Amino acid sequence: MQLSLSTLLGLLVVYATTIISAAVVPSHIYTERGLVPPPQDDDFYNSAPGYQNAKNGDVLKSRQVVIGIFGLLPEPVEAYQVQYRTESVNLTAITSVTTIMKPVLAKTDKFVSFHTAEDSNGPQCAPSYTYRVGADQESLIVSVENLIIQTYLFQGYIVNAPDYEGPDNAFGAGKLSGTGVLDSIRAAKNFGKQVGLIAEPAIVGVGYSGGAIATGWAAGLQPSYAPDLNQNIKGWSSGGTPANLTSVVELIDGTFFAGFLPAAIAGLAAPSAYGATAIPLINELATPYGQAELQFVRENCAVADLGHFAFQSISSKKFQKLGDRFLYDPQVSALVNNQTMGVNPAQRPTAPVLLYHSLNDEIIPYAPAVKLYESWCSQGSAVQFVELANGGHITGEIAGVVLGNQFVNDAFAGKVATSGCSKKTELTSILNPLALGASLEPILFQLINLLGEAGENDSNIKANPSIFTNPPKTQ
Ligand SMILES: *[C@@H]1O[C@H](CO)[C@@H](O)[C@H](O)[C@H]1NC(C)=O
Ligand SMILES: *[C@@H]1O[C@H](CO)[C@@H](O)[C@H](O)[C@H]1NC(C)=O
Ligand SMILES: *[C@@H]1O[C@H](CO)[C@@H](O)[C@H](O)[C@H]1NC(C)=O
Ligand SMILES: *[C@@H]1O[C@H](CO)[C@@H](O)[C@H](O)[C@H]1NC(C)=O
Repeated sequence: MQLSLSTLLGLLVVYATTIISAAVVPSHIYTERGLVPPPQDDDFYNSAPGYQNAKNGDVLKSRQVVIGIFGLLPEPVEAYQVQYRTESVNLTAITSVTTIMKPVLAKTDKFVSFHTAEDSNGPQCAPSYTYRVGADQESLIVSVENLIIQTYLFQGYIVNAPDYEGPDNAFGAGKLSGTGVLDSIRAAKNFGKQVGLIAEPAIVGVGYSGGAIATGWAAGLQPSYAPDLNQNIKGWSSGGTPANLTSVVELIDGTFFAGFLPAAIAGLAAPSAYGATAIPLINELATPYGQAELQFVRENCAVADLGHFAFQSISSKKFQKLGDRFLYDPQVSALVNNQTMGVNPAQRPTAPVLLYHSLNDEIIPYAPAVKLYESWCSQGSAVQFVELANGGHITGEIAGVVLGNQFVNDAFAGKVATSGCSKKTELTSILNPLALGASLEPILFQLINLLGEAGENDSNIKANPSIFTNPPKTQ
């Protein structure tokens, strides 16, 4: 049996349904998708007047929303969208939105900051939108990661889940994502009273793949950008980390997963990222076909991008005029090299970090993550590296649910080393269904089934990658 997204969603919906107890299921529930307006049609997303004069992390407006798995199944959580002030790469004031979710019987002295892999540029791909009941579910990776958020809510953690790509959905822009995360954490603290949080909560940040761009950059930037959070941040868990964008291009260009690349180019060229330099460059170099692809990804979410650009190449003369010299053009490489983590010792994490990565990751290469581990260690950070010896990118995300949860629990309990580094190897196939206690056994059991279906090293997915673009059936 092969892993299709519909199988994955089906299995996880079974789990999700079981956790929806008789708890506070909110009223005014939508029974269909497409009933709440997407961000581009929703005034809440327009920056509140006077935002330019606010401080980074200030709360500008908020509203209560209903959060639901796959846009339909309401979760028993109290949830708010909070608009907060942050800044663009050029330090201009911008605003973004974060979602704060409070489970029943929440712990009030801590929260988890969950950095969703949005991996796209369309406004309707934003996590804050996709997480709502009644929202369209074009942003399938976001829909699925909502289930991973459940593992934290289910353990009583309040969760902060920011739209760290900012107002232009600037996928791939490292610094912007990092500051977007850090300002959302400040905003969650500032908003904390409304959800019963203490004034100085403990915080752990987590993310995988695209979400690890945000997590890794936030970890590195925090000591200089947000020293006010020094006492709050207890750790960062980052899996499948895209530590070096050039090497991602080398691995996936021309493959089924190539569609992430025009999305990253469009993201870097967003106004809040590097648009001022990147747009003239694109106008000079891109072919009409290249421009059309960039426009497509600006309007769509990851799964559509993958379908549209499968087996195409950004290094071809069909896409831009320089062909395979494109990445090595001085202006292009200056921009792309700027997305490498671990090169600037002034941007090393001071809170402990977990990095985990599949040896056979077919989307985000393994070697640069090890290099990031070595750089941060040599700069004095405390980093644990877990190599998943028989995992691919998808199996790594699934196995990482356990690793991430364990790290979060340990970091909050003060059981994670705050100095020194360590590296170990684990097999994804030994995922223990009782690893997080009996209460989470149902989801871990389903995850183990998924590992089997994905195959060792994602071998079943590699054999037939197009199973990703199957339309999901969630009912
Ligand atoms: C990033 O990856 C590219 C391509 O593999 C490599 O040439 C470059 O040295 C790497 N950068 C760093 C800082 O490791
Ligand atoms: C600076 O950032 C703002 C906000 O995103 C953007 O509108 C503006 O175009 C940027 N300016 C430059 C020169 O990059
Ligand atoms: C690299 O990023 C920094 C901000 O982190 C910015 O000041 C610098 O201008 C960027 N360089 C390029 C070539 O975009
Ligand atoms: C998975 O990768 C390991 C290490 O590269 C290799 O030894 C093993 O044969 C692979 N398994 C499959 C099913 O491809």
